Amino acid sequence: IDNVQFQSDLLNWYDENKRDLPWRKENDPYKIWVSEIMLQQTQVDTVIPYYERFMTLFPTLQDLAEAEEETVLKAWEGLGYYSRARNLHTAVKEVAATYGGQVPDTPDEVQSLRGVGPYTAGAILSIAYNIPAPAVDGNVMRVISRLYTIYDDISRPSARHTFEMLVMKLISQERASDFNQALMELGALICTPRQPACLLCPVQSHCAAREEGVQEILPVKAKK
Ligand code: ADE
Repeated sequence: IDNVQFQSDLLNWYDENKRDLPWRKENDPYKIWVSEIMLQQTQVDTVIPYYERFMTLFPTLQDLAEAEEETVLKAWEGLGYYSRARNLHTAVKEVAATYGGQVPDTPDEVQSLRGVGPYTAGAILSIAYNIPAPAVDGNVMRVISRLYTIYDDISRPSARHTFEMLVMKLISQERASDFNQALMELGALICTPRQPACLLCPVQSHCAAREEGVQEILPVKAKK
């Protein structure tokens, strides 16, 4: 894949077609962080009202750091997976105490925060700070597995590395934030798990799965 052509095809499509999502209005790392934690096990449409309410209750990282855990869990009610909220609260308090309230911008520091794994770290670094770091979630693995016809079992933790390497080769150095969000958007709107809309895909000319007609059988996911 010619990364320059790929980037312009993808980013032009994103500029025209991206959804107007509340966490796309600003690049405050705290807000990006909260949105990514909420989006981990919950659908976009469900997250939107919770995200809006959470930001009204805790508009800044400092506000969340100073809140009682009980208040935070109350705001999370309905989203489920409460360990996400507890870990987020713990990590935000750590940022307030250790980093003067500034979310760190290096991979090691971000990943050392409670509840922040490789995906969330990459999302914060790229979306908030525009640093060209990969942010590989299930959507991105699906898109990349099709682009390159990767038959690695995506349910294995070891698969992530392969996808991260490929994203690092493709990612725009200038527009890393938009690039990663565009990959997610492509996975959500076009390169869907079943019956992907290849005819509408802005990067169909780069796609090996489309060329070989195997888009419906990728990605390979062995265990449930
Ligand atoms: N899923 C995970 N992160 C997302 C984001 N930033 N925008 C839309 N969907 C997402």
